[in-house]
Amino acid sequence: MDKLIINGGRKLKGDVSVSGSKNAALPIFVATILAPGKFEISNVPFLRDINTTIKVLDSLGARIEGNGNVVRIDTTGLNNVEATYELVKTMRASVLVLGPLLARHGRARVSLPGGCAIGARPIDQHLKGLKALGAEIRLEHGYVEATAKKLKGTRINFDMPTVGGTEHLMMTATLAKGVTLLENAAREPEIVDLANMLNLMGAQIEGAGTDTIRIEGVKELSPVDYRVMPDRIEAGTFMVAAAITGGDVRISNMQLEHLDALVFKLQDAGVEILNKDGIVRVKGPKKLRSINIKTRPYPGFPTDMQAQFMALMCIADGASVIAENIFENRFMHVSELIRFGADITIDGKSAIVKGIKKLSGAPVMATDLRASASLILAGLAAEGQTEITRIYHLDRGYEAIEKKLAGLGADIVRVKE
Ligand code: UD1
Repeated sequence: MDKLIINGGRKLKGDVSVSGSKNAALPIFVATILAPGKFEISNVPFLRDINTTIKVLDSLGARIEGNGNVVRIDTTGLNNVEATYELVKTMRASVLVLGPLLARHGRARVSLPGGCAIGARPIDQHLKGLKALGAEIRLEHGYVEATAKKLKGTRINFDMPTVGGTEHLMMTATLAKGVTLLENAAREPEIVDLANMLNLMGAQIEGAGTDTIRIEGVKELSPVDYRVMPDRIEAGTFMVAAAITGGDVRISNMQLEHLDALVFKLQDAGVEILNKDGIVRVKGPKKLRSINIKTRPYPGFPTDMQAQFMALMCIADGASVIAENIFENRFMHVSELIRFGADITIDGKSAIVKGIKKLSGAPVMATDLRASASLILAGLAAEGQTEITRIYHLDRGYEAIEKKLAGLGADIVRVKE
């Protein structure tokens, strides 16, 4: 197993480019199931979750070839309708193949994902929507078995905005008969990216990015070439990296408008952000101010940036209240940040962070994807050496992060344990 060693205290400076979005690429890969033929997907990040998705598509009978950040997927011979526990347990998003398989083949058998480190994460909204579209659903031996002769458009009202649920039902409804309305839908930019690809394939989707999405079913879809949007969470993580080290970093291949909630909070904390000619320059202040945040569905403050922002608040002036409203168990980084000397107490859904002058480097353990990023950020700002183990979490969602940070002047290396 690999670990990261960081010697902290260096101000990050220079240019860094953001990779393609993991959370957009995953459903985009799954959408290829909907049309037989050859797709070319570009700006794909090299990540473990992408590899898992490739394995899922391969197990279904698709042919996949990768060349750098371009992946060619041929779904002509896709004929298997089962996604096994082995694949779904390593990545929950695999469950998204259920609806598209059902839409193309009339049946599908997909393992239930099971628990997850950051919360229970049920898929009841996905299943409720598939049933409303006319699927018969049975849960047997840990698998969801779904059948449908013909899916029919309907109105689906989500109990809460769910990103995966919205993507899943939007994809499935493209091939249903008639009109589907998704109400209280999630509005994340990755949903818009997926809708853009589906519309290029011949789907009739309106309203993606708002809370009501209208999908008029079509008879068939065609394969396309598509470029994945930039990863807003990776971009946000670099912004915090600049801020926490008091650095001056220029970030390219990012869409700042996807990060409004974060930008406002960083600016309130004293961070300078300039957007010119598609390049975002982030300058950390001499003194950071403490700011409160509450995670919310998009366009609110993203839960996927909560851990990183908390690392920043550890060295801000004053006290910050960080409320996590999306997942019930997303404070596992707190006990690790305390190992750096941070002053944090948890009170129910909130963490109270009292800023201290300096963090001190420590051996710590990554617990989930974004928690890993927060430990790197703390390590970059801390005095002395930090050693982060269990970084396989990081490899699920950040492409070559240690190389990108080293390119900005960080003293960070990956070593084999
Ligand atoms: C996606 C992102 C993840 C991000 C999350 C919230 C991907 C691959 N992952 O996850 O990085 O942290 O959005 O922005 O895009 N819920 C239910 N029942 C359901 C579905 C969801 O109760 O059927 C709940 C969840 O437990 C959670 C909330 O709804 O509390 C939001 O989850 P959701 O938006 O579905 O997250 P994911 O799509 O799994």
